Amino acid sequence: GLAEEVKRVVAEFDFSAEDVRKATKEFMREMEEGLRKDGTHLSQIPTYVTAVPNGTEKGLYMAVDLGGTNFRVCSVQLHGNTTFSLTQSKVPIPHELMVAKTAKELFSFLAKQIQLFLETHHNDHYQGYKRKKQAGDNTEEEEIFDLGFTFSFPVQQIGINRGMLIRWTKGFDIQDAVGKDVCVLLQDELDALHLPVRVAALVNDTVGTLMARSYTSPGKSTTLLGAIFGTGTNGAYVEKLPSIKKLVEDKNAGDYDESTGEMIVNTEWGSFDNSLSVLPNTPYDADLDKASVNPGIQMFEKRVSGMFLGEILRRALISLAHDHALFKDETSDAADLAPNSPLLKTWGLDTSFLSLTEADQTPDLNITRQALENDFAVASASTDHAKAVRAIAGAIGRRAARLSAVAIAAVVLASGRLDTEDVVDVGVDGSLVEFYPGFEMYLREALREVEGIGEKEERVRIGIAKDGSGVGAALIALVAGRSGAEAP
Ligand code: BG6
Ligand code: GLC
Repeated sequence: GLAEEVKRVVAEFDFSAEDVRKATKEFMREMEEGLRKDGTHLSQIPTYVTAVPNGTEKGLYMAVDLGGTNFRVCSVQLHGNTTFSLTQSKVPIPHELMVAKTAKELFSFLAKQIQLFLETHHNDHYQGYKRKKQAGDNTEEEEIFDLGFTFSFPVQQIGINRGMLIRWTKGFDIQDAVGKDVCVLLQDELDALHLPVRVAALVNDTVGTLMARSYTSPGKSTTLLGAIFGTGTNGAYVEKLPSIKKLVEDKNAGDYDESTGEMIVNTEWGSFDNSLSVLPNTPYDADLDKASVNPGIQMFEKRVSGMFLGEILRRALISLAHDHALFKDETSDAADLAPNSPLLKTWGLDTSFLSLTEADQTPDLNITRQALENDFAVASASTDHAKAVRAIAGAIGRRAARLSAVAIAAVVLASGRLDTEDVVDVGVDGSLVEFYPGFEMYLREALREVEGIGEKEERVRIGIAKDGSGVGAALIALVAGRSGAEAP
């Protein structure tokens, strides 16, 4: 019957305490390997950011953010007392630009959005600059905004505002851009529009999150890790410089400040264990990977992040609908699923549905039933069917949170900070951790199961750094401006 089948599928998503421990060990091994050489699962990218802020930084900066749900443009006024004000606009990226033929199509769109933002929010400044330019007057350095470019994809950085795209992730696929310097791509389009903007820093969203969290919650123990659990997943953490062997031993590396003895490293943990030595692999995971634009990579991300969880659930549900009574009219043989149901289309189920059903506390699961009927064209969703859907969705969400714990546990243990500090601070952001009910609770449960953490889990402080990357990118632009990096 249905109940047994649901039990079976739920069990397929188990990730036991033993699995968590084994995966954490493997994660630490891959971290160390990535610090030594190139071409590893964890890219462990040196970011050239060598200091975290302390809350006293001041000034007006611009930031743009590409790679999450929305493209965002913002200006950030840092007040210097751990607070800031943010003006921002956001637009979703049109899907055709995510898979465009040329990089130019995407980057000229970004530059136009920046122009629109200047016209809307800083028009006096912008028009003044334009008039001077047209009159042939010299424009001053101060009239040009320093911009932090949050670009949330794997980039081989060669300086604070230089970096080549290694590969796209999260459904973007523009081969023309791979291997190119994304700061140059953006600066060229800004210059074509004569905008008073200089790309001063290139920032991964995880690095921005780490910076923002450090700025707003300074204290005795600085933030160790910035992590995103959103459309994609990734983390950046503070590493000791001598441990970043592939950087300190590289004679061609760009300049960086050695005085702090530390540098932020972007792990790109979405590609943890691409060879699947410790990650779970259900038939739904395997089929999703085959249907993706990048089979065989980002295997951790494909089990954890928002872009993929809905699709895993959809595939699990459809397998039940085909083989066993899910979404069949109970009194007749008629299929209960209309042929135009989004459940029958790849990527047809959004991860927000997992959050919705997890949050559904109604006794008859009315909220889940309504969503099934209204959004997914299930003719009449019974409470039993809704229960089945909710149980499987919950198993997928819980597995994602437990896998997330593996990444956090490994970074915390590798840092050794639990032995030396009272609190280990972690800043997080992203739609999954923000909206999936109980994500942190499940994650903490798994943290406690890790050898070396146990009840010290209580000393791992996890806090949301909401919209952190705008502020974080501004902070890095500030530091970069100080060190006088030239336009790309
Ligand atoms: C935003 C950050 O708040 O969260 C972005 O500013 C980040 O930089 C995003 O990419 C991640 O969440 P999502 O769910 O939009 O991918
Ligand atoms: C993907 C990107 C990574 C980013 C993460 C979260 O994993 O490769 O750079 O940080 O998504 O947005």
